[in-house]
Amino acid sequence: MNSARPPGEAVIQVEDLGKTYGGKLEAVKGVSFEVAPGEIFGFLGPNGAGKTTTVSMLTTLLTPTRGRAMVAGLDVATQAAQVRREIGLVFQDSTADGELTGRENLILAGGLFGMTPAECRAPIEMLLARMDLADAGDRRVKGYSGGMKRRLELAVAMVHTPKILFLDEPTIGLDPQGRAGFWRYIQELRREQQVTIFMTTHYLDEVENLCDRIAIIDHGRIIATGTNDALKEKVGGDVVELRTPGAARDLTETLRGVPGVREVRREGDLYQVKCSRAEGLVSALVMACDGAGVTPEGITVKRPSIDRVFLELTGKAYREEGYDDGRAAQASAFGARARGGR
Ligand SMILES: Nc1ncnc2c1ncn2[C@@H]1O[C@H](COP(=O)(O)OP(=O)(O)OP(=O)(O)O)[C@@H](O)[C@H]1O
Ligand SMILES: [Mg+2]
Repeated sequence: MNSARPPGEAVIQVEDLGKTYGGKLEAVKGVSFEVAPGEIFGFLGPNGAGKTTTVSMLTTLLTPTRGRAMVAGLDVATQAAQVRREIGLVFQDSTADGELTGRENLILAGGLFGMTPAECRAPIEMLLARMDLADAGDRRVKGYSGGMKRRLELAVAMVHTPKILFLDEPTIGLDPQGRAGFWRYIQELRREQQVTIFMTTHYLDEVENLCDRIAIIDHGRIIATGTNDALKEKVGGDVVELRTPGAARDLTETLRGVPGVREVRREGDLYQVKCSRAEGLVSALVMACDGAGVTPEGITVKRPSIDRVFLELTGKAYREEGYDDGRAAQASAFGARARGGR
C-alpha cells in the first residue's frame, strides 16, 4: 500500500508541487500526497521546512512554480476563485479585527463570500454556540483571551460552510489547556460537519493526538507519509521491557522464540524485546518466561515517538523552536492578504 494515498477518493491531491522564491530559493521541492474526505491531515515540520509555503499554494495565495494541486476537484492554479469558495483558512497569526465584536467579524467574513447579514445569521449563531462564544459574541475581540481569539478565527473560517479547512499552526501561542480545547473543537467540526482538515504544526504531540495521517516535511521535501502507527512501525515498532530480578537463567533465546518477536537485547536483568505491535505479545512473553521457570516483573511497553521517526529519517533531532519577529510579520502579511480575498 502506498501510504501517501488515503483510502477512498481524495479531496486534496498534490503532485510534485513546488515553489521557488525569487528564482533561487527552492522552499518546496516537489511534494506529493493525498487527503481523503473527513480526514484530519497533519503537515509536520520544523521551522522553515516549507509548511506555510505549501498551505499558501493549496489555498491559492501563492502560485506554484512546479507541479499541480487539486482541491475539492479544482485546480488551484487555474480555478483559484472556485477553490476559495470551497475552503476556509486559519493563519497562525490572528486576522480578526480587534475593534469589532466577534459577531461583526463573522458578518464581515460572510460578506467576503457574498453573503448578506441575513444569510449569515443562522451559521453565525450556530458557530458562536459551537465555539463557546455565544456570550462573548457582542464584545470587542481585543478583549478576548488567546483561546477565544483562536476559536473566533475558526468560526470566521467556517462562515461560508467550506468543505475543507486549512489551519496553519493554529495552536501557536496557546497554553496546553488552550491547545487541548482547540483540538476538541476541530474534532467536533469534523464529526458534525464532515469537514476535511489540513493543518500544519511543529508540535509533535499535536500530530500524535489529533491527526489521522501525517506527512513530515523537512527542507522542502516530504520524508514520510502515513498514519502515526505506520510511521512508528517504519522505525522499528514497539519495545516490551521486562525485568527478571534474581533469575539465574538467560532468557534471550526463549524470548526470541516467541512468534512476533524481532529482536531481544539483554542488559543484566532487563530484557528489551522489539516487535511491530506489543498488543497480544505481552501475555505470550510472560508465558514463555513462566515456561522457563522465571516470573518476569516490571513489564512496560514503549511505543516509539514521532520524534524518533524524525530522528531516524533525517539523522537529526526534531526541535520545536520559537518564532522570531520576522516570521510573525510575514504571517500577518499573509493574513492581511487572506482577509482581502486574495
Ligand atoms: N515570501 C518569501 N520570500 C522568500 N523566501 C521565503 C518567503 N516565504 C518563505 N520563504 C523561505 O522559504 C522557506 C520555507 O518557509 P515556510 O514559511 O514555508 O516554512 P514553514 O515550514 O512554514 O516554517 P515555520 O515553521 O517557521 O512557519 C524558508 O527558508 C523561508 O525563509
Ligand atoms: Mg509557517
